[in-house]
Amino acid sequence: MQPCDVAADLSEILLTEDQISARIAEMCREIERDYAGEELLLVGVLKGAVMVMADLARELTLPITMDWMAVSSYGSSTQSSGVVRILKDLDTALEGRKVLIVEDIIDSGLTLSWLLENLKSRGPASVEVCALLRKPEAATVEVDVRYVGFEIPNAFVVGYGLDYAEKYRNLRGLGILAPHVYEH
Ligand code: XMP
Ligand code: MG
Repeated sequence: MQPCDVAADLSEILLTEDQISARIAEMCREIERDYAGEELLLVGVLKGAVMVMADLARELTLPITMDWMAVSSYGSSTQSSGVVRILKDLDTALEGRKVLIVEDIIDSGLTLSWLLENLKSRGPASVEVCALLRKPEAATVEVDVRYVGFEIPNAFVVGYGLDYAEKYRNLRGLGILAPHVYEH
């Protein structure tokens, strides 16, 4: 999966680089159909969405601009609480804009539902969500997500932007983190 050997830290490879890029291309065709003739503002959520944003933005044939938000959800390291703090806000005003939030993963959905309400309150023409991954078993709040790349099992995953203690974001594919890495 990667020149530096992290295979021992993964219990399973869920998605390869090729599977991810093929799915992103499919999602882009869908987005292009839905927003034909429009200009889109992609809002990436730092840091996990960096890889999906980079690939999605370059695959899309629509005119786009990109902006970024960093939020932190209070809670334990593996469970979010829904109480969200903005660490870095957008540089762009949203009035009249067609906004697509680009997320790495939706787990409980708490972070995203807060973010959706926050962005909708800024007067955009529309706000939709594109998430590469969703854990359906974990959802505690229903969030309307227009584009979902893959439904994955309820396990802690790393790679393709997703981290454990800031590591593994640079893996080209997605894997399940082996329990021995976080169980001491
Ligand atoms: P909620 O629960 O609010 O949280 O939907 C979504 C955020 O939680 C992080 N998250 C993960 N990060 N592997 C990760 O590296 C995972 O399996 C995982 N599940 C949730 C992520 O930051 C996401 O934006
Ligand atoms: Mg994280």
